[in-house]
Amino acid sequence: MYFPLTTDKRSMTDKLKHLTSTLRGKLSLWYLTSVALIIIIFLAAASVLFWYTLKDQIDHHVHIAVNEAREIVQNYKGDERDELLKNLVSAQGMTIIVLSPDGAPVLETNSPDVAAVTEHELQQILTSTNLRDPQPAHFTENNIRFAAMPIQISAGKGILAVGYSTQVLYATFNRMLLIVGGVVLLLVLPITFLGYRLLKHQLKPLESIADQAKRINDRETLSKRIHINASTEELVTIQSALNFMLTQLERIFSSERQFFSDAAHTLKTPLAVLRSQVENSTVSHKMKQEQLSTIDAASDTIQDLLFLSKVGNKSQEIETFSLSSLMENLVELATTLGEEKQLQVTSTIQKGVEFRAEKKLLQRALSNIAHNAVLYNRSQGSINFELKEHADKITIKISDTGRGIKKRDQSKVFTRFFRGEHSFAKGSGLGLAITKAVIEDLGGQIHLDSEINKGTTIKIRLSSTSA
Ligand SMILES: Nc1ncnc2c1ncn2[C@@H]1O[C@H](COP(=O)(O)OP(=O)(O)OP(=O)(O)O)[C@@H](O)[C@H]1O
Ligand SMILES: [Mg+2]
Repeated sequence: MYFPLTTDKRSMTDKLKHLTSTLRGKLSLWYLTSVALIIIIFLAAASVLFWYTLKDQIDHHVHIAVNEAREIVQNYKGDERDELLKNLVSAQGMTIIVLSPDGAPVLETNSPDVAAVTEHELQQILTSTNLRDPQPAHFTENNIRFAAMPIQISAGKGILAVGYSTQVLYATFNRMLLIVGGVVLLLVLPITFLGYRLLKHQLKPLESIADQAKRINDRETLSKRIHINASTEELVTIQSALNFMLTQLERIFSSERQFFSDAAHTLKTPLAVLRSQVENSTVSHKMKQEQLSTIDAASDTIQDLLFLSKVGNKSQEIETFSLSSLMENLVELATTLGEEKQLQVTSTIQKGVEFRAEKKLLQRALSNIAHNAVLYNRSQGSINFELKEHADKITIKISDTGRGIKKRDQSKVFTRFFRGEHSFAKGSGLGLAITKAVIEDLGGQIHLDSEINKGTTIKIRLSSTSA
C-alpha cells in the first residue's frame, strides 16, 4: 500500500467527509468501531485476569521462598548458610532479610539487581508481622512484595522476610500489553480493509439500482424496470417498491395522455355543431363574429391538447428532412406575420443541415416560437433566426426585440396554460409547453433568455446523432 508522505490537510478532511457521507463509509466506520470495542473489552478483561494471576504467582513464589529460607536459617550456619541463601536469591529481584527480636537486621542477602532494604521497609516488616502467627504475612512496600514470618534465632524470636520486586511483574505485564497491542493493530487494519472491500461487493446492487433509476428519465424509458441480482430481503423490497412506483407512474402518464385525447375528441363534435348553429343564427354580424372567434379559440385549445397528447407516441412518420429549409420557411412565416408590425426579420441559417424526426412535430415546435416572436414584439422591432451545426450538435436560436418576460415568469412559460400577465393576444398558453415536450422528446434541450423591454431569445440544442 502507498501512503503519500505529504498530504494536503484539506483534501484529507474532504476525503474523510466524503467517506462518512457514503453508506459504505459509515458501515465501515461502525464495523471498525465495534471490532475495536470488542477487542478493547476483551483486552481489558484479559489484562485484569493476567495481572491477578501474575500477582498470585509472585505470592506463591515468595511464600515458597520464605519457607525455604526459614529452613536454611534454622538448620545451617556460617558460610554454608550464606551460600544456600545466595543460591535462593539467584532469581532476579529477590531479597532476604533476618531481623533480631529488637528489629535490627542480622542478615541480608540480595540478588544483584535489588537495592539494600531501606529503613522504611524495615519498619513496615516489623509492623506487618504478627510474631504469634507462624504463617507468612504478605504485603507490598516500595514496589516489593514481601512475605514475612516469625523465626527462632539464637537471640530469641526474630523475623524472616523475603521480598520480590514487582518491577519484574510490571515489566512482564507491559511486555504482554505491547505484544497484544501490536497483534491487534496488525489484525484490525486488514480486518477493516477486508470489511470495506466486502461492503463494496454487498452494496453493488444498490449502485446498480441508482444507475438504472437514473436512466429512466423520460416517457420512453418509463416502461423499463429495475433488475438486480438481489441477495438480501431489503434489496428485493427496494427493487419491487421502485418497480411498483414506476408501474404507477407509467399508468398515470398514459391515463393523463388518454384523458387529454378523450376530452379533446369529446369536445370537438359539440363545438363543431355549436359553430354551425352560430353561423346559421340570425344574430347581428358583430355578435356572430365574436361568438365564432370564442368557439375558434376553444377549438384551437382542443387541437393543441390533442397535439400534446400525441407527443411521445411512437411515430410512423419519421423522415430525414432539411432543417435548413424548415428554418427558411419559418423566416418567411415571420416576415408575413410581421408585416403589420413592420418587423425586420433577419437570419443566419447554415445550409445543408439535415435532421431525422417527425417533421410536423418539429415544425410545430419551432413555429410556436416564431409566432410568439411576432406576437409579443413591438412595432418596427426585429426577429433573428439562427441555425448552426457543429460536431453533430445543432443549435437553433430565435431572438426578438419584444417586451421580454419577467424573471419570475421565465420558469413558468413552458408549463401548460401559462400566459403572461398582459397577454392581450389570443392564445391558450400551450404553445411553449408543446415546444418543450417536442424538443425533449427528440432528446434536445430548450433554454430561454429574456430581459424585460429588451427582448427574448429561445435557444434549442439538438443532437443530429440521437435523431
Ligand atoms: N417571445 C416572447 N416575448 C415575450 N413574452 C413571451 C414570448 N414568448 C412567450 N411569452 C410569454 O409566455 C407566455 C406563454 O407562451 P405560450 O406560447 O406558451 O402561450 P401563448 O402564446 O400565450 O398561447 P399559445 O398557446 O397560443 O401559444 C405567453 O402568454 C407570453 O406571456
Ligand atoms: Mg404562443
